[in-house]
Formats: sequence, C-alpha cells, structure tokens
Amino acid sequence: MQRTTSTNDDVVTAARDGAPEGLVIVAEHQTAGRGRLNRQWVSPPGTGLTFSVLLRPAVAEERWTWLPLLTGVALAEACATATGVDVVLKWPNDLLARDRKLGGILATRVESAVVIGIGVNVTTAREDLPVAEATSLLLAGAAAPDREHVLGVALRTLADRYQSWSATGGDPETLRAAYAARCGTLGARIRVALPDGSSLDGTATDIDTDGRLVVETADGEHAVSSGDVVHVRSA
Ligand code: BTN
Repeated sequence: MQRTTSTNDDVVTAARDGAPEGLVIVAEHQTAGRGRLNRQWVSPPGTGLTFSVLLRPAVAEERWTWLPLLTGVALAEACATATGVDVVLKWPNDLLARDRKLGGILATRVESAVVIGIGVNVTTAREDLPVAEATSLLLAGAAAPDREHVLGVALRTLADRYQSWSATGGDPETLRAAYAARCGTLGARIRVALPDGSSLDGTATDIDTDGRLVVETADGEHAVSSGDVVHVRSA
C-alpha cells in the first residue's frame, strides 16, 4: 500500500479478524511507524522497506521468544545476500552495518499469533536519516540497492528460517548457533538499560536457550530478556 499509519497495526487488525499465517503488508510510507521500547520508526517515503508479517506458530509458546531473533538472523542474511553488505546483529535484533543502525524488528503478540514488523533503510541518503547514528544499505556500500529485490530475498530467507525452525518444534540450538555467528554483542563490553530504569554494565557472554542475553557483571551473571544495549568502546 502507499500510505498507512503502521503496517504492524494493520497486520494486528487482520490477525484479530482471522487472517491466515503468511499475510504480508508492505507500505511505501508509514505516518506513525513504531519501534521497540515505545520509540518511533521514521523512514522517508520510498527509501526503505517497512513491512509486517503474520505468523501463527505451531510450536510451544515458550519458544516464541526466539521469533524476533530468528527474524534478525534472516534479515541479516538477506541483506548480505542481496547487497553484499556485512550485517551484524546487536542483541536482541537491531541490524547494524559498520556499527550503525540499518534496521530493526518489532514483534507484537496478538492472541495466538505473532506480528513481526521489519524496517530497513535501503537507499536513504545521510541527510534523510532520522538520527545521525543510523545508516542505509546504500551508505554502507551497496552499489545500487533495489528495494524490491531486498524484499524478495528477505521474505524467502525468513520463510526458510521459520519453516526449518518450526519443523524442529522450535528447537533453539541451530538458530542459536546462527544467531551467535552474526551477533556483535557477544563478547563485547556493554551497558544494558533495563525496563525498570536500572542498568547493567558488564560483558555479554552468551545467549541462553530462551534467547536471553547473559551478562557477566562485577556481582555475577544476569540473564536479560528485554533492554536497550549499548556496545561500550574501550578508550
Ligand atoms: C526498532 O528497531 O525499534 C524496531 C523498528 C521496527 C519498524 C518496523 S517498520 C514496519 C513495522 N511497522 C511499524 O510500525 N514498525 C515496524
């Protein structure tokens, strides 16, 4: 569609109305795009990919925490395959290129379904990026990135990853290895802002079987299920 408030809201409504798994809504322009942690997602019309997918997972609900991470792996693989840009994941599912944010994923639970929203900056010029710390596939070195091509590869890669994971009953191990191989957070010194307003400073040592980030701090190990990670550079 040309214009909508948020493709996630559109797919949530469709899910409530009984739409089948696999529904995809793509928009050229979102007027109220949403990001994680109550942030906005702003993308100048025609320069990025903004789309949402409806999943109705047949695996046990306690495995669903892996869906945003699975999507991150699939999108990182797809961007690399379609454009040659090396994409790294910042836990849980920020897509980074050259240490700058290229895209993000917002998962919303709705009844027995999960809506996965994906935003990727594709041809966005530096002056059109919403924040200075962001980037696009073009700025990260892709010669002439084509949004339709990236979208096609992304949907195929996501479908492949989702079907393989579903076929194992949502077994996290294969996915965990693929995630770890792409994750720039593991092994890094980090600061995590937690939803209760506190923060943790330490080293990211592992991803546990629920997809939580394990952080080693001065007072021991913490498994974090939600938060905003900053990779801390040593001086
Ligand atoms: C984030 O990094 O904070 C997640 C951003 C997710 C943005 C996408 S764009 C398509 C879909 N519709 C929305 O309103 N948000 C997601």
